Amino acid sequence: MNKFTAIRLLAYLFLMLCCHHFSWSNNNPDSLALPLKASRFTVNTDQIVSPVQPTMYGIFFEDINFGADGGLYAELVKNRSFEFDAPMMGWEQPASDRFTLNEKSGFAVPVKYAEPGTNKNYLNVKVNAQSGYRLVNTGFKGMGFKQGLRYDFSVIAKQTSGSTTLHVELLDEKDQVLATAAIPVSGGNWKEYTASLTPSAKAMKGKLNIRFEGKGVVDLDVISLFPTDTWKGRPKGMRADLVQLLADLKPGFLRFPGGCIVEGRTLALRYQWKKTVGKVNERELLINRWNNEFAHRPAPDYFQTFGLGFFEYFQMAEDIGASPLPILSCGMACQFNTAELVPIDEIDPYLQDALDLIEFANGPVTSVWGKLRSDMGHPAPFNLKMIGVGNEQWGPGYIERYKVFEKAIHGQYPDIQIVSGAGPFPDGEMFEYGWEELKALNAQIVDEHYYRAPQWFLENANRYDSYDRRGPKIFAGEYAAQSVATVSPDNKNNWDCALAEAAFMTGLERNADVVYLSSYAPLLAHAEGWQWTPDLIWFNNLESYGTPNYYVQKLFSNHVGNQLLKITEEGKPVIGQSGLYATATIDEKAKELVFKIVNATAFEQTFSISLSGKKTAATKGKLITLASNDNDAVNSFESPQNIFPKEKEVSFTGKEMSLSVLPKSVNVLRVAYK
Ligand code: AHR
Repeated sequence: MNKFTAIRLLAYLFLMLCCHHFSWSNNNPDSLALPLKASRFTVNTDQIVSPVQPTMYGIFFEDINFGADGGLYAELVKNRSFEFDAPMMGWEQPASDRFTLNEKSGFAVPVKYAEPGTNKNYLNVKVNAQSGYRLVNTGFKGMGFKQGLRYDFSVIAKQTSGSTTLHVELLDEKDQVLATAAIPVSGGNWKEYTASLTPSAKAMKGKLNIRFEGKGVVDLDVISLFPTDTWKGRPKGMRADLVQLLADLKPGFLRFPGGCIVEGRTLALRYQWKKTVGKVNERELLINRWNNEFAHRPAPDYFQTFGLGFFEYFQMAEDIGASPLPILSCGMACQFNTAELVPIDEIDPYLQDALDLIEFANGPVTSVWGKLRSDMGHPAPFNLKMIGVGNEQWGPGYIERYKVFEKAIHGQYPDIQIVSGAGPFPDGEMFEYGWEELKALNAQIVDEHYYRAPQWFLENANRYDSYDRRGPKIFAGEYAAQSVATVSPDNKNNWDCALAEAAFMTGLERNADVVYLSSYAPLLAHAEGWQWTPDLIWFNNLESYGTPNYYVQKLFSNHVGNQLLKITEEGKPVIGQSGLYATATIDEKAKELVFKIVNATAFEQTFSISLSGKKTAATKGKLITLASNDNDAVNSFESPQNIFPKEKEVSFTGKEMSLSVLPKSVNVLRVAYK
């Protein structure tokens, strides 16, 4: 015991005499006094409770907060194909500036293709003056340019009369030209033109400027600009910094594409995976359901180009070692919106989508959908093992549809695990009803969602202790502590929330025999384009950072272990009795015992772990700690590692491992065993 702990203990004893009694009754970290005696935990390394599933900690991805277009998908041009509801959204034809546009210089109008198709519009540009006309794209809250990096521009164009040269320029915030390339357009047939541009300086909110020289009529479509430092250097790929943050989590699974986005506000606007595969330019645009969902955070320019579609999601899952978990519409539009239902006798196309998706992921290259996967560059199967039926549905309408899906999927693919849902709330009538029905139907995995106050998370570390071990397995599919209230725009990714989530996560892990998957939600948010907060990772046009909640997820996921042990105090699970929460696992690959200890109190705490069983522990170990005394502490672009794990070596003498952990801390202790 160090000097400060001893002093605190004396002070505590004095307090106890004065106040007569104190107990850790309400799990409120800030109302706690130092416990009378150090906790003593016991672990028998021979008594394995169950394996911990490799899917235990994963990722929930949804295109919310400009997470895909304007985020993960590295395309910088907004509305590149003029397909938005307002086809010129994102594009400007500046009227007065250093290029001095006047009506005589030129004019562009969006036009519909004569042949109906998935790409409906193109831009018809009449260039009337030799110079002076230009088109500007302002990107997603501007475009981020890195000095010295190559950017690849492309456009599909045809010159229907006269002759024009496109001067493609990257501009900074002050309209200074950072890079330029000239593209003479020639010929009356649609053709792709490309150019490479390397900015001479950095810009956080740059733009794309296309200056027209010459006279004539030119048609343009799919005007695109990508950085070349994408994930794995894939052309027209994903933002490497964001995928890296995901990969660093070492996620067990990747759930996609949502979220409510799966359901759509109406059935017609639901996510249809078949429209997101094949040639990128032919993927039909769809409004993003978060476009106008919240009046307080309107995003009228939020659409889905599906440049990031199902093939790319599968590929990303494979890249980062995560098991893919696609979630499909089950014929129910978002029940918070229209709640439109497809009649059961019209549900076949929805079922077929699910069956075809399994073929797309796993089928031989000789099958229709397996061939498409192969044509897209991935002949090997994606090894799909799980599929979600509906997102956050509830009521008899859901159960009725779930039954039909279960029969169809298992009829053809008995080994695919089906994820069903218990609705949007962690308790209440809808939840109880869903659970009762799904249990009676022997559902395999049930998805539960909880967006609740930090206190709820502290109090629910024992939530799964009493779940029926013979019932469905759990997917804690969406959760995040809300610092103010659910969907409040004032919610923060602060330490108070992250710490409470960590305490709760010990409850997920302690119940690894029933909890098979879990994921924080939402995942990504553009600092200027978000609709929903809190979120795990924040980014702007050039930078990104993980929140304290991210580092909690990372600690748990990177140190998960594969066999669950029991860790107890006086025979009981460690679920906050003294403000401490704990788990113990074995990492057989590393030959280490892994302990997670969350100290939710405002005091340093000392405890010991007494080991029994055949495994004996080394006298040295590694302690990784995430801590802050400040409940309100956050990470930010300026200070992305304000809350960040710190590692140190610890050593033990004697039979028991004795350790002190910081106030308000999340700790991982790794000790080699023999
Ligand atoms: O994560 C944000 C939203 O919360 C999801 O889209 C939905 O499933 C839940 O209501």
